[in-house]
Amino acid sequence: MENNPDVSYLFEPRSVAVVGASSHPGKIGYKVVQNILAMKYPGKVYPINPSGGEVLGIPACKSVTDADGDIDLATIVIPAKFVFDSIKECAKRNVKFVSIITSGFSEVGNLEEEKRIVSFAHDHGMRVLGPNIFGLYSAFSSMNATFGPREVVPGNVAIITQSGALGIAMMGKTLTENIGLSAIVSVGNKSDINEADLLEYLVPKDEVAVILMYIEGVKDGERLVRILRDATRKKPVIVIKSGRSKRGAVAAASHTGSLAGTDGIFSDVMRQCGVIRAESLDEALNWCKFLSKTPAPVGENGVIITNGGGMGVLATDACEKYNVSLSDDIEMLRSAFSTVVPEFGSIKNPIDITGGAPIEDYDKSLDAAMATPEVSSIICLGCETAVFDSDRLAVTLEKYFPGGKSKKPMVFSFFGGPKIDNCIAEYRNKVPIFFDVYEAVSCLGALYADYRNKALKPPVYDESVYDLIDHAAIEEIIKRVRQDKRQFLLSHEAAELMQAAGIQMPKTGVARNMREAVELAKKIGFPVVMKIVSKDIIHKTDAGGVALDIDDEKEVVDAYEAIIHSARAYNPNAIIEGIEVAEQLRKGTETIIGARIDGSFGPIVMIGLGGIYVEVMKDVTFRSFPLTSSEVMNMIAGIKSYPLLLGARGEAKKDIAKVADTIMRVGAVIYKHREISDLEINPLVVYPEGEGAKALDARILLTKSE
Ligand code: COA
Repeated sequence: MENNPDVSYLFEPRSVAVVGASSHPGKIGYKVVQNILAMKYPGKVYPINPSGGEVLGIPACKSVTDADGDIDLATIVIPAKFVFDSIKECAKRNVKFVSIITSGFSEVGNLEEEKRIVSFAHDHGMRVLGPNIFGLYSAFSSMNATFGPREVVPGNVAIITQSGALGIAMMGKTLTENIGLSAIVSVGNKSDINEADLLEYLVPKDEVAVILMYIEGVKDGERLVRILRDATRKKPVIVIKSGRSKRGAVAAASHTGSLAGTDGIFSDVMRQCGVIRAESLDEALNWCKFLSKTPAPVGENGVIITNGGGMGVLATDACEKYNVSLSDDIEMLRSAFSTVVPEFGSIKNPIDITGGAPIEDYDKSLDAAMATPEVSSIICLGCETAVFDSDRLAVTLEKYFPGGKSKKPMVFSFFGGPKIDNCIAEYRNKVPIFFDVYEAVSCLGALYADYRNKALKPPVYDESVYDLIDHAAIEEIIKRVRQDKRQFLLSHEAAELMQAAGIQMPKTGVARNMREAVELAKKIGFPVVMKIVSKDIIHKTDAGGVALDIDDEKEVVDAYEAIIHSARAYNPNAIIEGIEVAEQLRKGTETIIGARIDGSFGPIVMIGLGGIYVEVMKDVTFRSFPLTSSEVMNMIAGIKSYPLLLGARGEAKKDIAKVADTIMRVGAVIYKHREISDLEINPLVVYPEGEGAKALDARILLTKSE
């Protein structure tokens, strides 16, 4: 891309043109100009309309080229068929960014036109936001170049949204929820600018405390992963994803591929990046509101203060769900709360100030919690009782949230009649008070997720794994397969590749006569398995072409004769190339290890336990590669059947380190050799700790084009 302009010109343009500005109040071209003017954008505004005249009191230029100065941002609101020509005009006025609101491009199959626009824009030093968007609002330049709501509360939450309509609705919702925005950007078809470009600008900005992304599909995921991993160590990134498409699964050739087509990969990779995934729009906005106003906790010692056991138990369950740690330091709790909790209450967390507690007792307990440095966050709950003066609840809220901010992370949830409900309705946009305990705790969960992310050190990738692999040998194998015009590796080629990657497979060889079979078996070591090798016999077992558990030389001889005999009977015309003699693996725990180049995220790795765990339970985890050593262990521990690797029911612990090593090796192979699209070891038989693991079978596919 030539003269790639800095993204700051998109958020802080010195001048904005609206191509398609209209004086008809019903048109989008009118609304955009109206919104820009309403925010008192300080830069120069150029309405562009072929008839000239005025738009909302500003003289319109007949063409972008008539503008009396250069233009940093051009917002395009004319029908699709005219857009390309208008982009050509933009190039003449040194436009840096075009924000194409217009629909009718790749989202309706008109990909060619979209590509033509982007390619022209790039050739002329411009970048494209959209098309098919509602525009962007940026508090950095007091600019609302959208056709969303006119009124926006400036603040410290930045939103990036793929859905336009939903984004407009979110803009409206931020207003009703009192969430201040530093920016909201609609990315639409992401023909050029995507989330990664925008994050590069937003993450370093002090004015941005929280980032929310609504994503339907990921483009350029490898770069997005890199940026997100870094971003989440600095500030919370919340994501909502829809479109749990199974389309990828249909086309995929391996387990790794078919399972990757599901939502699992997105979830796992986002978790790996430290992104906090919200389950609903409401939850996401609650988190934005809470995280943008709440101080960071100083530790992981939460306390629950409640007047009822039931609410306390509900909150404890919610804490488990949302990963909020509660203090069980009984000495600390006693010293903090024993003077404020009645004798028949409880100072074990939840702190139960009992059903007889008036609101004043809440204040005493909250004062105690605030004054105790070890208490890092507070969940304050209540059921409305006859002795609880609901009218006073507002006073308490004001007291602990002066100016809408508390000194420690604190959430409230009260349950009761109309007075309580009215108080919550009145205060819910000012302080974190919720109707539902789970909503309250989910906010704290997001806060702690961010707290833990920020404590992480920058990821360290162990580059030495690349040196463990014979890359030249792998290139040589790929070359041979390409020469043969195949996309899949034959089993002996896959075995060679495994060897080059340092992944053990059973020892094997092909015997052309009985004597060779005996020699091979002796060399490999008993027990062995024997299999017919013939291109004409695909279903070897049906043809009686397989013998297992061969323990000595005599059994090799017997098996050899039996296999040849059965194979001839099965297909008298089959050309028999020989008999494969292979090491018979001892039983172990069967896992599946995969690596592939994912259409969205680039190199990814997968682990699952074999058999029903993958087939039925879809119990697998994914990660983007490269991986740190702790992430690969987290990935393995992430499968539900992990206890089987740890050694359930008195079985020995399995060689998990070898599993991790294998994942790193397949990841390294796929990362360095991009011509390999899919690599799957199924099964990797894992032995007890210290005894290693062996790949029984490997399937490897190359990308379509060379
Ligand atoms: N340069 C400048 N202005 C031009 C122009 C050009 N090359 N060609 C046309 N115009 C003017 C028109 O004359 C008109 O002005 P007018 O009202 O004074 O006559 C104005 O631009 C708009 O053109 P018009 O033909 O009236 O289109 P429209 O307003 O009905 O629709 C879009 C234009 C972009 C809104 C429409 O094509 C569209 O894509 N709508 C969907 C938008 C959307 O949903 N985006 C995704 C949101 S999430």
